[in-house]
Amino acid sequence: MYKEERLAEAAALRGEIRHHEYLYYVLDAPEITDAEYDRFMVRLREIEAEFPEDVPEDSPTQRVGGRAAPDFTQVTHLTPLLSLGNIFSFDELKAFDERVRGGLPKGSRIDYVMEPKIDGLACSLIYENGKFVRAATRGDGSVGENVTANVRTIRSIPLVLTGDYPELLDVRGEVYMPRHAFMKLNEERAGKGEDEFANPRNAAAGSLRQLDPNVTAKRSLSFFAYFVGDGAREKHSESLAMLKSFGFKVSENYKVVSSIEEAWDYIENFSAKRTALSYDTDGAVIKVDAVYQQRILGATGKDPRWAIAFKYPPEQAETTLEDIDWRVGRTGVLTPTAVLTLVKLSGSTVSRATLHNVDFIRDKDIRIGDRVIINKAGEIIPEVLRVEKGRRTGEEKEVTVPSLCPECGWSVTRGNETAIRCTNPHCPALGREGLIHFASRDAMDIDGCGPAVITQLVDAGLICDAADLFSLNKEDLVKIERMGEKSAENLLSAIAKSRENELDRLLFALGIRHVGAKVARTLAMEFKSIKNLMEADEERLAAIRNIGDKIAESVVTWFSVPSNLDLIERLKTAGVKMDFTQSVTEVNSFYGKALVFTGTLPTLGRAEAQGMALAVGAKVSGSVSRKTDYVIAGEDAGSKLTKAGQLGVKIIDETEFLKIVRGGE
Ligand code: IVH
Repeated sequence: MYKEERLAEAAALRGEIRHHEYLYYVLDAPEITDAEYDRFMVRLREIEAEFPEDVPEDSPTQRVGGRAAPDFTQVTHLTPLLSLGNIFSFDELKAFDERVRGGLPKGSRIDYVMEPKIDGLACSLIYENGKFVRAATRGDGSVGENVTANVRTIRSIPLVLTGDYPELLDVRGEVYMPRHAFMKLNEERAGKGEDEFANPRNAAAGSLRQLDPNVTAKRSLSFFAYFVGDGAREKHSESLAMLKSFGFKVSENYKVVSSIEEAWDYIENFSAKRTALSYDTDGAVIKVDAVYQQRILGATGKDPRWAIAFKYPPEQAETTLEDIDWRVGRTGVLTPTAVLTLVKLSGSTVSRATLHNVDFIRDKDIRIGDRVIINKAGEIIPEVLRVEKGRRTGEEKEVTVPSLCPECGWSVTRGNETAIRCTNPHCPALGREGLIHFASRDAMDIDGCGPAVITQLVDAGLICDAADLFSLNKEDLVKIERMGEKSAENLLSAIAKSRENELDRLLFALGIRHVGAKVARTLAMEFKSIKNLMEADEERLAAIRNIGDKIAESVVTWFSVPSNLDLIERLKTAGVKMDFTQSVTEVNSFYGKALVFTGTLPTLGRAEAQGMALAVGAKVSGSVSRKTDYVIAGEDAGSKLTKAGQLGVKIIDETEFLKIVRGGE
């Protein structure tokens, strides 16, 4: 009995952990703290250590150090992994469309699926009866390398599928490294004196070819599924939706279009959108939607005739650097920005580019008057890539680093760090930039309170710090230029609404050094109220996962400054919410509902499913009555299902159940 109970608990924990891994790694919307996640893992490991012979291969604990070591042996693909031809213009896109139409019966309706072209490396994943069994790189298209052990460590890849999966599934997609992970990895490597990777794609490839899966596991790789070999649906778009229902990460940016003009619109729109994504893309892919049409069209060599890749031109432009503008940010650091002669770059007109810091200017030997190449790779704000030194005329001027703050005239300091700082603790820029941050979208999200409005409010002497925002009134606001009655009212109601924000927004908004949006959420979830957080010492803070010494010290220091404590007090008096009340359970539609399970569910064990339901606050009962809210029915469901039908109780299947448990409804 004891063993049975422990094993049931382990099964429920696995369901729970899988669910949270899905939320975190696939949907990018975690609902629990890392600490809570760790507690689940610790508990599961404890039970598994007690009953090692009962640990299934697809347990979340088995991602690293699974049975097989990477061997990179050769694997023959079930069907070849095709490559894609490239095009670069609208004319070539039209020619592709004409070739497709020419290859199909006259007058056929043709839909295309448009997708981002992810810049990583292609992989095929094989699932047998819903379980991940093998992964292989593309190789030459027919034979690739077995990278199963390393791919297992990629946590956006499900080890067990959910929903109505086929017996055999061959999923193809791209293993990639998100930009932030790439930058972090390179920083670490630079710190250790190791060579940096040239781009996220190389970093992903290098990480996947590690002999030690522990190393791969630390590299934050991810995976987008974009194609089904064996197990495909009639339409490619349906296959994508199916992959999503199985628990894969599928790009949100795909679109079905029915003409080549619409395809071009997508390409143009995506060109602007893609720079803001958290991962690199190097083009857009256009695919014939209907699989029977794909079959008729076939392939030439390694490229299908039914799909092609549109490649975006490298996003670079040449212009003249006219001047350097030094601005003070909310932390008091002076940042140089290049003032450029207007130039077009990937669809927009650019007049400024970031120069990061003094070292950047020195390393690249940037001078005023230089011809410079700017690029927009990844970043929304362009940066100066290099100087065309061969085109210098001798008129160029060396950059002088300011010795006085451009904002308040106080002296600046430069310790042993790259940053130059204003020494005036009351520099007006600090207040203004801090307020801009406070009201910004990821912080307190006050609509209609952008940089221009904040600057006006500060200049008019209406606000000095964040707490002042909450005592603004209509009479004062309408005196401001271009602020009508209606906008004043809207602004006031947006400010009032922000009082109800959860604590994580406020913590981020305060602008505590090293406390970004994610750290703020971790802290809010962990401490639940600002009072608890203020009572925590460095040791307590640093014990939290993902909170390092630097953050811990910064938080404690911030809360020890009297003017900061005063600000908190005034915000509190102004009615700003100081705690975190959101909970996973309250936002789930199963919360407080009575559930009855009956029959055999296709993928979840009974204990696992019940564990998941309980975890989101549902009540699970053994028999159906009028009080039952949902019956979750699997195969061979008997009298309970009949009764539910008679009583008019809502009956759902496993797919629906998982959708709701995961907060999809
Ligand atoms: S489809 C027949 N879709 O681009 C299907 N490929 O240049 C062939 N890639 O080897 C692949 N994003 O590694 C497809 N949405 C996407 C893609 C994509 C990136 C890669 C893939 C392929 C290469 C061809």
